[in-house]
Amino acid sequence: MFTEPFRIKTIEPIVFLTRRQRLKVLAEAGYNIFKVPGDKIAFDFLTDSGTGALSKYQLAASGMGDEAYSESESWLRFKKAIQKLSGKKEIIPVHQARGAEKLLAEVLVSSPGDFILSNTLYDTTRGNFESAGANCLDFLVQGELSSWKKFKGNLDLKKAEKFLRQNNSSVKAIVLTLTNNTNGGQPVSYENVFAASKLAASRNIPLILDACRISENGFFIKKLEKGFERFSVQEIIKKLCGLADVVYMSAKKDGLSDAGGFLSTNNKSIAANLRRLANFYEGYPTSGGMSGKTMESAIRGFEETAHEDYLDYRVSQVAYLHSGLAKIGFSLVNPPGGHAVYIDAAKTLAHVKKNNFPAQTLIVAFYAEAGMRCSEMAGSLTRGMNEPLELVRLAIPRRVYTKSHIESVLEAGLRIWKQRKNLRGFTIVQAPKHLRQFSAVLKPLTPSLFYN
Ligand code: F0G
Repeated sequence: MFTEPFRIKTIEPIVFLTRRQRLKVLAEAGYNIFKVPGDKIAFDFLTDSGTGALSKYQLAASGMGDEAYSESESWLRFKKAIQKLSGKKEIIPVHQARGAEKLLAEVLVSSPGDFILSNTLYDTTRGNFESAGANCLDFLVQGELSSWKKFKGNLDLKKAEKFLRQNNSSVKAIVLTLTNNTNGGQPVSYENVFAASKLAASRNIPLILDACRISENGFFIKKLEKGFERFSVQEIIKKLCGLADVVYMSAKKDGLSDAGGFLSTNNKSIAANLRRLANFYEGYPTSGGMSGKTMESAIRGFEETAHEDYLDYRVSQVAYLHSGLAKIGFSLVNPPGGHAVYIDAAKTLAHVKKNNFPAQTLIVAFYAEAGMRCSEMAGSLTRGMNEPLELVRLAIPRRVYTKSHIESVLEAGLRIWKQRKNLRGFTIVQAPKHLRQFSAVLKPLTPSLFYN
């Protein structure tokens, strides 16, 4: 059981449509959830990025935003706060994490034969490194989606080590994503980050942390890893950062901000290169494109997500949705992760063929039944027929939805489950070659929409 550790002070009304209205909205959107207008959505579980609710302290802090172009007071406070959080001296602000990724890719990748190794790169990280010419390899620890093993976000150290032995000079960095967003929001253990840092150091390459959800990851370490129960999450975050050469973070996740991010390092030469490029792509090096208001609110956001009563609520809320869906019968990625629940649509809708898009079918069903929007994390619409997985992600915005909202989604889940055999899937009417999940027009296989 959990209780929201806050009172709601400002609200955003939800307009609930009828099921008939929602079916009409779906038809008009070509059964593509990205095209459903925002005001027609009741529960938006598309992302936990930039969608959190601000605290009164964050709002008050935004009022202190200093918008001076250079060396603003807000920047000086931001720099100090991130130095404290990460334990690193050189701080490079960015407009959001993908900006940081672009800078890193340009600084680290020099030729098309270069490799980046990771537990699993997030799409934007992979995209940025690949556009700079690198080959990106994910070495994730083996594990069934449904197994309840701890720390399923870990890097497979043996495979990484073997690859490094064979291709030493062409590997440019190890990047660890904390938590592992693409694989169920699963945490990475301290032990794994420690071993990865030793491995990287032994090959003289940097260890980079994509620390977007480091507070959530830190909380899992405190709860699950022996010896860490006595440390605060803030201390664990600092210890994790201490193992890395470069830490970057989107302030839109565990910074509870609507924008922003940073890179931090103690390596002066990497910092100088990153800063030079940041000036072109991100903004003046003392803002990175963030406003003073954003920096002030993010400083407070980073602090608030490390509070343990907040983190306890946060992971309990995710676990509540997870256990409700599991009880109904949905096949899920286990255990529940830090920010989202991932449904294995290939198993849940085993009768829907891959070329009829099982993940999309479930996404459309959830909108029809609950007005809920979620997304395909890995699946045939997003990545084509060679993608083995069909994962639907229900990402929960921070501090936005209550237990009763989650219960509405679970009630819809039960209705979907009971009718699942009638879900038939979709065909594509029209779609671009790349990023087709954003604009594809789909058509249900059965004439009476997707139910018989
Ligand atoms: N790394 C991870 C692990 C992420 O989840 C994201 C964004 C990024 C990097 C890029 O950060 O948006 O600030 O540029 N993830 C969002 C999501 C979009 O929905 O999971 P950004």
